[in-house]
Amino acid sequence: MKTIYSAIQPSGVMTLGNYIGAVDNWHQMQADPNNKCIFALADLHTITVRQDPAKFHENAMSFYALLLALGLDPKKSIVYFQSHVQQHAYLAWLLNCYTMVGEMNRMTQFKDKSQKHSDNINMGLMDYPVLMAADILLYNAHEVPVGVDQLQHIEIARDIAERVNGIYGDIFTVPKGVLKKVGAKIMSLQDPLAKMSKSDPNPKSFISVLDDDAVIMKKFKSAVTDSETEIRFDPENKPGVSNLLTILSVATKKSVDDLVKEFDGLMYGHLKVRTGEAVCEMLKPMKQEYNHLIKDEAYLLECARENAARAEAIAQETLDRFKKAIGYVMI
Ligand code: TRP
Repeated sequence: MKTIYSAIQPSGVMTLGNYIGAVDNWHQMQADPNNKCIFALADLHTITVRQDPAKFHENAMSFYALLLALGLDPKKSIVYFQSHVQQHAYLAWLLNCYTMVGEMNRMTQFKDKSQKHSDNINMGLMDYPVLMAADILLYNAHEVPVGVDQLQHIEIARDIAERVNGIYGDIFTVPKGVLKKVGAKIMSLQDPLAKMSKSDPNPKSFISVLDDDAVIMKKFKSAVTDSETEIRFDPENKPGVSNLLTILSVATKKSVDDLVKEFDGLMYGHLKVRTGEAVCEMLKPMKQEYNHLIKDEAYLLECARENAARAEAIAQETLDRFKKAIGYVMI
């Protein structure tokens, strides 16, 4: 059995990029009977950037319902809120004492976020990778599916795990980051050189998985491409067209090569409309399920409680193993 662990922050909206790059991939991993999957809403990470309480609460519930609506199975996998399992913060503290300030100072995301939020460079922002290491190590995860931008954080989790194991013996499983092949990075519809991001001030640049069909169609129709006319996959020279092909490939489960042949002689307009339609089609069942789930708060909370308890049982075992090795008095 292989343990797979991943998490997503419940901030803003869930974009098509999050869905294609992360959640859909989790869904596929869950289908493999050899995998034991654990998926979290990383809501402790979210407050490293200031959140409006009401909005934060709403987003967290909405993301939980979305994860279930997108097919993550809370009976088969563990689907939970990080904030419901106290062991994350506890292990993060212990790991802090095995992590060097210099290492955290070198983290690209920390440097980026410090620039972006220069009025709030809090300790949590700097400590973010250590909490993330705690998330992963608590569950003895073998593989961690993430986007390219998170690979550096997986590297540091590995370093910390190896450091601890070097001192105390076999405490942690050393995790491996895994990247998705097609669709790992979905680009902005307005600036195809930048990653699709929910924090982009231009809402036309990203699709929320909860956008109406009409809105989705409009956004795809106004997607930025290039001044040529040929439809081919060439991310370097034709990032906009290639991004549409990638999205269409995921939405239709057809290969990019087949799609390029299919679109031979057609215009960019056709590609945009087809991609929009395919995305609407792909998201439709999920939206229906979401609309049903989000009204049933009692069910969502019960599910969250049950899944947190299952997560906690694993987490406590790991934490105890480490505490014992450090020399703590166990009661
Ligand atoms: N930092 C990750 C992101 O923003 C989310 C995350 C938190 C995570 N803890 C994790 C991802 C543990 C993988 C494993 O995408």
